[in-house]
Amino acid sequence: MSRRISSAGHGSLAAPTSIARQRDLADQLLGWFRPDDRQVPWRHSGDPYRVWVGEVMAQQTQITTVLGYYDRFLARFPTLSSLADASLDEVLKGWEGMGYYGRARNLRSAAREVMTAYGGRLPEDPEILRQLPGIGPYTAGAIASLAFGRDEPAVDGNVRRVLSRLFDIARPTARRLEAAARKLIEARPGNAAALNQAMMDLGAALCTPRAPGCESCPLSLHCLALARGSVADRPPAASPRRLPHQTVGVGVVWRKGRVLIARRPPSGLLGGLWEFPGGKLESGESAAAAVKRELIEEVGVEVRVGALIKRVDHAYSHLRVTLHFHEAEYLSGRARPRAASEVRWVEPGELGDYAFPAASRTIVDSVRSRGRIGRAPVPGGS
Ligand code: ADE
Repeated sequence: MSRRISSAGHGSLAAPTSIARQRDLADQLLGWFRPDDRQVPWRHSGDPYRVWVGEVMAQQTQITTVLGYYDRFLARFPTLSSLADASLDEVLKGWEGMGYYGRARNLRSAAREVMTAYGGRLPEDPEILRQLPGIGPYTAGAIASLAFGRDEPAVDGNVRRVLSRLFDIARPTARRLEAAARKLIEARPGNAAALNQAMMDLGAALCTPRAPGCESCPLSLHCLALARGSVADRPPAASPRRLPHQTVGVGVVWRKGRVLIARRPPSGLLGGLWEFPGGKLESGESAAAAVKRELIEEVGVEVRVGALIKRVDHAYSHLRVTLHFHEAEYLSGRARPRAASEVRWVEPGELGDYAFPAASRTIVDSVRSRGRIGRAPVPGGS
């Protein structure tokens, strides 16, 4: 009896799961795949370290956006051991602008672990790779297949869409998707890197979320969702999450031509990055009052808060923030880390040596180039 795959939700229908059909699918994909059509610099590198860095950068970020950052990071940290030897500050600076700074911290921690536990060589086995900080199923599968030629699936967002349409999977759980990808890979052993990346490219080029190019798709004859008219519903749309919103007051505090910066605690959102000190508004509090209070609580400094310099809206994956940047003048107290992990008074020209979150970018740039921004602090303001 030929094997059938349940259509994961709607009864079952003869699906392309026989080994011959799987081979046919794999061959169509392999015939369609043109590795050089897309610029993915680590694709041909054969260097597990480069594959790892590239794949971590490419998560939730378009490859075209990654390119410049990738080159810059690899120029600074050309080998796994150079990354392991670098300070957290250097690594965060090298990652600056990419967001998701936890990934940079994890890369560094994992590189250190690879040096001590695996003699500086990334393990090939995805199960072992997954024990390293920041390496989940996708990254482990991508490293194992791209760098070590192992027959392992790597299911990212594009592959998820391709597979859930191809097999019309109504509830595309990680387990189902991985099983579907593994069958395809097992049909043509030794081709996992090409098959995984062919699906990634297909998802980016043709099997797009909206208006997919089914008429040009090499898999259209096999596509169950196309046959059943469910392409638009696969994968199911995630229910829109309303992100929580926070309003934050931030002080650009001056003392004798220097400006005060504070380092965030090492873990958590933007952990280890530098910022102008400040914090969330309490209920009924103005941004200026929050700056005054936070400066005392966070770094132990009394300030006079001046004009609003700029308001910046920024969205993280799980949070939206509105930052109110205020000028402020140092009055008294010795700056010391309280809620912050380190504090420094720096010359405007030195700001470029520190990694700041993207939301502070315009303020950092104006302070660097023009020194003090805006009007003098309002006397007695807050
Ligand atoms: N997205 C993330 N990694 C990729 C790769 N190796 N090829 C195509 N798209 C990708």
